[in-house]
Amino acid sequence: MTQTQYMEDVAQIMAIRARGSRPMALVRTYGCQQNVADGEKIKGQLEQMGFGFTEEEEEADFILFNTCAVREHAEDRVFGNVGALKNVKRRHPSLLVALCGCMMEQEHVAERIKKSFPYVNLVFGTHVIHKLPELLFRTLTDSRRVFERGDDSEDKQIVEGLPIHRDGTFRAWCTVMYGCDNFCSYCVVPYVRGRERSRSSQAILEEFTGLVRAGYKDITLLGQNVNSYGKHLQEDVNFAKLLRMLDEVEGNYRIRFMTSHPKDATRELIDTIAAGKHISHHLHLPFQSGNNRVLKEMNRGYTREKYLDLIRYAKEQIPDLSLTSDIIVGFPGETYEEFLDTVDLIRQVEFTSLYTFIYSPRVGTRAAKMEDPVPAEEKSKWFQELCAEQEKIAARRCASMIGTVQRVLVEEQNAKTGLLAGRTDGNIVVDFPGAPALIGTFADVNITEARNWILKGVLA
Ligand code: 5AD
Ligand code: SF4
Repeated sequence: MTQTQYMEDVAQIMAIRARGSRPMALVRTYGCQQNVADGEKIKGQLEQMGFGFTEEEEEADFILFNTCAVREHAEDRVFGNVGALKNVKRRHPSLLVALCGCMMEQEHVAERIKKSFPYVNLVFGTHVIHKLPELLFRTLTDSRRVFERGDDSEDKQIVEGLPIHRDGTFRAWCTVMYGCDNFCSYCVVPYVRGRERSRSSQAILEEFTGLVRAGYKDITLLGQNVNSYGKHLQEDVNFAKLLRMLDEVEGNYRIRFMTSHPKDATRELIDTIAAGKHISHHLHLPFQSGNNRVLKEMNRGYTREKYLDLIRYAKEQIPDLSLTSDIIVGFPGETYEEFLDTVDLIRQVEFTSLYTFIYSPRVGTRAAKMEDPVPAEEKSKWFQELCAEQEKIAARRCASMIGTVQRVLVEEQNAKTGLLAGRTDGNIVVDFPGAPALIGTFADVNITEARNWILKGVLA
């Protein structure tokens, strides 16, 4: 049977189970934007099977958690929330509970679900999202629970043309490549999302053009490592070329992209941003650590000097460039002196904002086997020190924007203050008074005030 036939069957079965009313699904996504994009493909398929969506557990006929495995904290939250579903299921025995996403690609997690959470009906991994109709059909018609992960062939394929239920009306995601080949020693991603594979530039251009035509104003190109885009394709393309191709699409919109890896980020990429018509002056370029020994242990493939050299070039070419990064504090064996190299690096670069994480050991990764003598409380102190330093830097950066006019994509109205909130090209939040009709449009805002990492202003 094809997935379309399974879809029809599931729609029929669910309609009967819901006794005439529309079956409702609750889809909760954890983790990164890639997962959010997967969640939209899952919802697209559910919609075609006749489901409506709800955020209320009590209202749902089907609850699906789309999980993240990148750090222990994310996993603990999922286990906690799955545990809490036990009572919901007791009150609604016909409720279907499913888990998918990165956590489910890990053998030990699937085993734990099998043993400890007997009320979970369906578990599937990141490589088989396109088989959701079949998996749901099996769950509904078979008395056994369904556990499904991709085999080697599914690990490598890209399924085009899945329906997408987009959550936003003016911000959208567009995946350009899947997976990661880098094997940074701390990271579980290559194990749970498989090897790198890129979509054809034609497929991306079609989706992208459709988004612009539909009125999306802020489109983020997604990939675990977008700078590797095109490496395994037959066509002669790389990420900078792809950006230039998309930038040619006529319309009033901006392009963002993430995540870039410093190992593969080129001057060509910087030149492309500088010359672009629609490309945001914003670069998320995670450096993880400012110390060369730690970078080597992390298997990152660049040095502090190479990173700083690229940043210097980028700032020369794009003076208003907004830089952001991910950082890991307390990698196994990192000393306080080595950590201070990270603090020094953030002072030199002056990032707009940082995503900082305390190292979390992941089963199966190389770093999980390394000696890790520094106690958690000590790492926590370093973490605080880094955040305090960044707060000062962000406040300084924001203050330097007072008096400038920023083009802001207006996103929402704050229910309490009544102020509108939007984001600059560099992804900084700006609050300003204005009519709600501006939501979803670009507005020029005169920056009058800076509060740490938030700007305030008035319409120019
Ligand atoms: N522990 C802590 N942080 C991690 N990240 C990835 N793996 C780990 C880990 N094991 C962080 C990195 C990455 C971001 C998405 O999550 O900084 O860039
Ligand atoms: Fe993980 Fe490194 Fe790949 Fe990023 S580049 S997903 S940190 S292995």
